[in-house]
Amino acid sequence: MKEYWVKDLSLANFGRKRIEWARNLMPVLSKILEDFRKEKPLKGLRIGACLHITAETAVLAEALIEGGAEVSLCASNPLSTQDDVAAALAESGVGVYAFRGQGVEEYYRCIGYVLASSPNITIDDGADLISTIHKFWYGVESKELAYVRDVLGGLSIQDLVRGIIGGCEETTTGVIRLRAMAGEGKLLYPVVAVNDADSKRLFDNPIGTGQSALDGVMRATGMLLAGRNAVVVGFGNVGSGIAHRLRGMGARVTVVEVDPIKALRAVMDGFNVEPMRKAATHGELFITATGNINVIRRIHFEAMKDGVVLANAGHFDVEINKRDLEELCVRKERVAPYIDMYVMRDGRRLYLLGEGRLVNLVCAEGHPYDVMDMSFSLQALSAKYLAENRRKLPNQVLDVPKDIDHLVAKLKLESMGIELEELTEEQKNYFLKWEFGSE
Ligand code: NAD
Ligand code: ADE
Repeated sequence: MKEYWVKDLSLANFGRKRIEWARNLMPVLSKILEDFRKEKPLKGLRIGACLHITAETAVLAEALIEGGAEVSLCASNPLSTQDDVAAALAESGVGVYAFRGQGVEEYYRCIGYVLASSPNITIDDGADLISTIHKFWYGVESKELAYVRDVLGGLSIQDLVRGIIGGCEETTTGVIRLRAMAGEGKLLYPVVAVNDADSKRLFDNPIGTGQSALDGVMRATGMLLAGRNAVVVGFGNVGSGIAHRLRGMGARVTVVEVDPIKALRAVMDGFNVEPMRKAATHGELFITATGNINVIRRIHFEAMKDGVVLANAGHFDVEINKRDLEELCVRKERVAPYIDMYVMRDGRRLYLLGEGRLVNLVCAEGHPYDVMDMSFSLQALSAKYLAENRRKLPNQVLDVPKDIDHLVAKLKLESMGIELEELTEEQKNYFLKWEFGSE
C-alpha cells in the first residue's frame, strides 16, 4: 500500500509554514491539542478522514495525532486540496492521499487507501467515506466502488466495519445523507453530526462561507461587487451568510427560496425575494447554496443576460446543471484559472467558476482559520467522545453533546478576551419556578 499520494513533495516547506500560521490562529484547537498531548484520549485508535485538505485540516490532524491516534487523510473534493499542505503532511509521516485536480478514479482510490488503514473512527465532510463503506456493505455496486476494492486488497468489509466505533460528519449535505441511511435502518455505526452543533452551523456555515465564497468569486474574477445584481439561491445557514455579506459589499441582492419561513426571513432582512425564473433574467452574479440538485438549469440559462457569472457554494457540483450548459453552448473555453466560458447559440457568454464545485475552496482557500478553529475543535472533541463511549452509542445520527458545544464557544470567547456574564443563584432559581407571575 502507498504511504502517501500527493502532487509534489517539494512543496512541503511552504505547506509547513502555512500549517504553522494556521495553528497560531486556531487557539481553541491548539489548546485541545495540548490537552490531548497530555491525556492521549485517542491512544491506539486509527482515524480515517475525508476532508478538504487545507492548513486548518492539517492542524486538526496534528491534534488527533497528539491525542494518540494514527491518522489517514483523503480529500472530500477533487479540487479543494492545498497541495503544499498535503506535501507537508506526507513528509511528516501522515498517510495523506490527496492532490488537486483528481479524476473520479483517483478520488475513489484515495478513499480506498484511507479505508485500507482500517480506521476505528471515520471523519467525513459530505459523507463520501462513510457512504462508500455502506455501499460496500450493502452490495451497491458501482465503478467507484470497484476502484476502492482494488486498493483494499485482502481487507474484508466485515473486518473493516467490525473495527469501527463511530464517525463524525462536518457538513449539512453529509448529515442529510446520514439521516437517509439511518431512516432506512441502514446506518452501521453511530455518527456525530458536527455540522448541527450551534458553535458550528451558526458560524462556519454563514460567516465562514459568507466571507470565503465572496473571496473565491473576487479572486477568480476580480469583479466589483458594489452595484452588482447578485442572486443567492437558498437562504439557509450558508445562503443567508452569503446574502448579508454581498449586501455589505454593496451588491443588490435577490434571494431565491422554496421554504416560506426562510423566504419570509429574507424579505424581512430587506432582500428582494423572487423565484429563479424571474431572478434569472436580471442577475449578473449567481451563487447557489441549497445542497439541492439542478437549482439553476436550462430554462434559467436560456433567460440569462450576456456575461453572467455562476458560482456554487453548496457541497456537491450538482446545483448548477453543467450538462445543460454543455448542451446549450456552441463553444466552451477556459478563459482564466477556474473560469469556464460557455458561449450560447445567440452569442451570450455565461461564466462558470470552479467547475461548479465549492467556489470558496476551489477559487480561494476555504473558511478563515478563526472559524475552522471552532468546527475542528468540535471534530476533535467529538472523536474523543466516541472513543470514551465506544460500543455504548446507538447506530444513529447523534447530536454533539451540549457541554462540548458550549465548551467550544466558551473557549473561543476566552481566546478573544471576552468575558461572559454569569447567572446569580437567585437568577438560576428564578428560571426553575413557575409560581411567580404578574404582581
Ligand atoms: P440549509 O439547509 O440551512 O439551507 C439550504 C437552503 O436551501 C434551505 O433554506 C432550503 O429551503 C433551500 N433550498 C433547497 N432547495 C432549493 C431550491 N431549489 N431553490 C431555492 N432554495 C432551495 O443548508 P446550509 O447549511 O445552508 O448548507 C447548504 C449547502 O452548503 C450544503 O450542501 C452544505 O453541505 C454546504 N456547505 C458548504 C460550505 C462551504 O464551505 N462551501 C460550508 C457549509 C455548508
Ligand atoms: N471547509 C470550508 N473551509 C474549510 C477549510 N478552510 N478547511 C477545511 N474544510 C473547510
